[in-house]
Amino acid sequence: MKVLFPASEITRRVQELGKRIASEYQGKDLLVIAILKGGFMFASDLVRSVDLPLKIEFVRLSSYGCSDSPQGEVKILSDLDCPIAGRHVLIVDDIMDTGHSLIAFKKHLESRKPASVRICTMIDKTCRRGKPIEPDYYGFRIEDGFVVGYGLDYAEDFRTLPDIYIFEPADSQR
Ligand code: IMP
Ligand code: MG
Repeated sequence: MKVLFPASEITRRVQELGKRIASEYQGKDLLVIAILKGGFMFASDLVRSVDLPLKIEFVRLSSYGCSDSPQGEVKILSDLDCPIAGRHVLIVDDIMDTGHSLIAFKKHLESRKPASVRICTMIDKTCRRGKPIEPDYYGFRIEDGFVVGYGLDYAEDFRTLPDIYIFEPADSQR
C-alpha cells in the first residue's frame, strides 16, 4: 500500500478544519454526529481541534447506501437518542463516495427540524457521485481510488492505521 496522506498532513488539515468550524459555529448550539465506524478517528481528532463547547453523539448506519448495494436506502443500526430540533448539527464521516448514505441520513435528520445540518468528511471522493451533494467541509479531495487507514477500512482491516493509504487489489491477497 502507498501512503497518500501522511498523519502529519492529516493533523494539519484537521486543525485547519477545526478553526474554520469554530469560527462558523461560534455562539451556536453545535451537535457533532459522528458516523460509526469509519468516522470515529476523524471525529475524535476534529472535536479536539474545535475550540467551542459542543456535544457529540454517535450513530451507526448500515451499508445499504453503498454503491454496490440497493441504492437510496440507509438503515440506521443505532440511532440518536437525543432531540435535535433547533440545534446545529454537523455530521462527521470518513468519506463521501457516491453520497447515497449521507444524503439519506441528512434527510432523516432534517425531518426532525434541526436549525441546520452540514456534512464534514475527511475524504471527498468525487468520481462516483450520483447525486448533487458535496460535503460542506472536507479534509482532502480525491477523484478516484480506494483508500484505507484513519478510520477507513477494507473488510474491517486497516482502520487503525494513522496514515491514509491507497489500497490496490493486490493488497487483499496478502
Ligand atoms: P457513499 O457511497 O458515499 O454512500 O459511501 C458509503 C460508504 O462506503 C462510506 O461511508 C465508506 O464506509 C465506504 N467507502 C466508500 N469509498 C471508500 C474508500 O475508498 N475506502 C473505504 N471505504 C469507502
Ligand atoms: Mg463509512
